[in-house]
Amino acid sequence: MDAYINEWVNLFIRWFHLIAGIAWIGSSFFFMWLDSHLEQPSSSKKDVEGELWMVHSGGFYQVEKKLIESKNMPKVLHWFKWEATLTWISGFCLLVVVYYLRDGVYLIDPSISDISVQSATILGLATLFVSWVLYDLLWVSYLSKYKAICNFICTLYVVGLCYGLSQYLSGRAAFIHIGAMFGTLMVANVWMRILPAQREMIAATKEDRTPDYSLGKKAKQRSIHNNYMTFPVLFIMLSNHFPSTYGHSLSWVTLLGIMLAGAGVRHFMNVRNQFSGLVLVSSIVIFLGMFFMTAPLPSKKDNVVVSELAKQGYHHVSSKGCFTCHSVDGAKTIGPTFKGIWGRVEELTNGEKFIVDANYIRESIEYPKKKFVKGYPPVMPVYKGQFTDSELEAIVEYFKSLK
Ligand code: HEC
Repeated sequence: MDAYINEWVNLFIRWFHLIAGIAWIGSSFFFMWLDSHLEQPSSSKKDVEGELWMVHSGGFYQVEKKLIESKNMPKVLHWFKWEATLTWISGFCLLVVVYYLRDGVYLIDPSISDISVQSATILGLATLFVSWVLYDLLWVSYLSKYKAICNFICTLYVVGLCYGLSQYLSGRAAFIHIGAMFGTLMVANVWMRILPAQREMIAATKEDRTPDYSLGKKAKQRSIHNNYMTFPVLFIMLSNHFPSTYGHSLSWVTLLGIMLAGAGVRHFMNVRNQFSGLVLVSSIVIFLGMFFMTAPLPSKKDNVVVSELAKQGYHHVSSKGCFTCHSVDGAKTIGPTFKGIWGRVEELTNGEKFIVDANYIRESIEYPKKKFVKGYPPVMPVYKGQFTDSELEAIVEYFKSLK
């Protein structure tokens, strides 16, 4: 697809995806909040489990949580299922448009693996669907009685998958596929486990049968899984703006760390006790760990004596936020890596080839719109007037040290 058309298609699907996602996650947060704020009903209302009053935009609302009986079956019952479905469909389209239809620009990274775009696409798609089958089989199996064992198996699976994908796909694509995998589990949980259970409960009530309460319990379990997946998934959806996370050489560790910490924060919000306090503290420690782990350090290659000038150069580059788009360890993020930049043969979008020298580096920083390196989007900000001559000299010196 033409890159320009692709960009507009991307824009509209992404916009749609965000709106659907807000509606889905928003309604799910709202119901969680409702459940945890219900008050005891006045004694006159027998079938009411809890109630609460709210005010919003000048209107007053009273909500009652009821046990359903055949005599009080409502004529119209609102379900919240399309938000999840539309989020998944738009997310899947986005995956296709951004990752599968762009000659692998974002999907693969030749510095990581020489997998073909087709194989990477199959690997990505398989991740989504095979994971659901395995996850669902586990949680309907006999083993599902032992929650701790199942949770442990799922954790191992996710660790393995994060590591495995990061060996074949680009860091960014590995992240997004883990997010899309969780999104798929969440939507499949809604459609294949939660909604059928609710339907069965309603049908039983209508026919005056005793509903199979175990179905409700199992649906609740899937709902809890979905709840813990929300924060990790939302992080992953934002992660493509943060190359220091997916561009790190151990990107699978950053991914696992941030997901774990996100789920920990979610746990703290769900359950308030001493143990959840500990979980919150651990999450903060993990976030700090990831913060330090991804810090861009000057190259520490042995036998390279980093001069004082190069160190200053590092500080100028670091303080201007260049590392949000450029890595120093060879990872391809938004811009070309700084590793080995000095003397590298670079090709421009117009096909011209040349060797990177001091003039080119200075020009790239002050007038990035003059020349564009092939294979990268033209998004480098203009830094004219932000560095003095001697600062630019220090940056060049720093780049020379990144062998
Ligand atoms: C928003 C992302 C972004 C930021 C921030 C950014 N760059 Fe870039 N940079 C790019 C992209 C994308 C390219 C490649 C496309 C181009 O040539 O414009 C690039 C190209 C370069 C190049 C040429 C690299 C090569 O291999 O030929 C240099 C040098 C460079 N940037 C230095 C810097 C410095 C120094 C800073 C901070 C002062 C910085 N960049 C900040 C995105 C960024």
